[in-house]
Amino acid sequence: MPLRYLSEDPQRDPSSFRHDEGKAMIWSRNAPRLLLAIISFPLIALGLSPRRNPERDQKRAQSLSAFNQIVLVLESPRCVNCHTNLDAPLQGDDGLLHDMNVKRGIDGRGTPAMRCTNCHQLSNSDIDHGPPGVSDWRLPPASERMAWKGVSVGNVCRGLKDPSQNRNRNLNDLLQHVTNDPIVLWGWAPGSGRTPPPLSHADFVLQFRLWIETSAACPD
Ligand code: HEC
Ligand code: HEC
Repeated sequence: MPLRYLSEDPQRDPSSFRHDEGKAMIWSRNAPRLLLAIISFPLIALGLSPRRNPERDQKRAQSLSAFNQIVLVLESPRCVNCHTNLDAPLQGDDGLLHDMNVKRGIDGRGTPAMRCTNCHQLSNSDIDHGPPGVSDWRLPPASERMAWKGVSVGNVCRGLKDPSQNRNRNLNDLLQHVTNDPIVLWGWAPGSGRTPPPLSHADFVLQFRLWIETSAACPD
């Protein structure tokens, strides 16, 4: 090794070299690179390795694509007419404010004088523009509005999963709710003049299950 360094300075008398001088030169040249390698190793390990997990990436992509289907239903008029931030329900395919100054009230079931179930019965009214109905027709309570209208897809997704915003439901509770809840099912039998959501109920439940099984990922 020292020979390489000797050749860099032809004027220098080879006998003037101390035996450890070559080693010192190697160190001083390589120390910065060595230091960089030591510092960057954990950073690379932390920063890059999660991206090098194709199985997880694929799962996330499947989950996001399922959620993109789910949200088509959630944001349809049959759902957002109740899943709104406002203090009143909306009505019809255009989502106009509910007639007759109906209000949410604290528990979502209206004000003391105008309860939802005064008009909304156990089944849809047969009359055109009559009130639709299933048992306990109501809005989510004022404290947990579960609003999806005008909310970004990522926030719809995070809100859906957040126990502090969804009355403490876990993912399985959510799946049960979208599978069996009478109000959800009503969306696919809403009475004349109201368009059902764009996916069938069976497809919606299938996508919901798929979304959960592939990690229930949310868009950024
Ligand atoms: C008549 C009003 C109404 C309609 C219409 C309605 N919902 Fe809801 N929804 C509610 C209420 C009320 C709750 C809260 C129930 C509770 O926790 O007591 C709720 C809760 C939910 C939840 C759990 C909330 C969360 O954030 O995790 C989901 C999921 C849901 N609804 C799906 C739907 C879907 C899908 C549709 C449309 C097909 C729909 N809902 C239509 C009233 C409605
Ligand atoms: C005074 C009677 C009355 C009361 C009280 C009432 N509604 Fe209604 N509601 C109706 C009628 C009638 C319709 C149908 C309007 C139409 O189709 O043009 C309707 C429609 C709706 C719709 C629209 C359904 C859709 O998807 O188009 C929702 C949602 C709704 N009501 C929620 C509620 C909630 C929640 C309450 C209580 C906070 C409530 N309503 C109280 C009479 C009432």
